[in-house]
Amino acid sequence: MTTGATEALSKLGDEARGCRACPLWRKATQTVFGEGPADAKIVFVGEQPGDREDIAGRPFVGPAGALFDKALATAGIDRSKVYVTNAVKHFKNDLRGKRRLHKRPNVGEVNVCRRWLIGELDLVAPQLVVALGATAAMSLAQRPIKVTSSRGAAFEAARRRVFVTVHPSSLLRLREEEERRVAFEAFVDDLRAAVQLLGQPAATHEDVSERSGAAPS
Ligand code: URA
Repeated sequence: MTTGATEALSKLGDEARGCRACPLWRKATQTVFGEGPADAKIVFVGEQPGDREDIAGRPFVGPAGALFDKALATAGIDRSKVYVTNAVKHFKNDLRGKRRLHKRPNVGEVNVCRRWLIGELDLVAPQLVVALGATAAMSLAQRPIKVTSSRGAAFEAARRRVFVTVHPSSLLRLREEEERRVAFEAFVDDLRAAVQLLGQPAATHEDVSERSGAAPS
């Protein structure tokens, strides 16, 4: 079963590598598909690959990834046992001099890329999906989600149980060391709370992505 899902994921990744459904591939080095075991219980979803991920072809390997790894380790989560991916598979950027600056993907780009994310979720079939930040949450829920008011809460979306927390990059943007320390602890607390949900029966949350008025996928 897992071998089949592993092979199917690898096939899906190969298909995604040829995706030209939106213009983002033009400025990116390559598609950055998700990685991790096909039988992972948790899938973490970020926004999109950054500069380092674009070059390496792997999700969360740059500065935000280092912080994410540290938070996972502090929360007692083994990264090699979880599946890590992004809502958008190409690095959206603007060239300023020699630097490629991150640009947030728009709703259309997120929706076009959603088929790859849903494909990954269908194959991994995790017990829990953790949305790291607003873009991932919006892709899953198909409507805008305010991370400040939704973090730490679980809801049903995309036929999965979804837990929302902040994006690790938001911690990197904090200027004060004390502010960063507090934010890091809150992030780790969220990760611990997410793990606590594993094995617990899902409450009868409303599937927010099935609500009328939600953006079409
Ligand atoms: N930020 C993301 O959202 N994803 C990555 O893979 C890296 C940085």
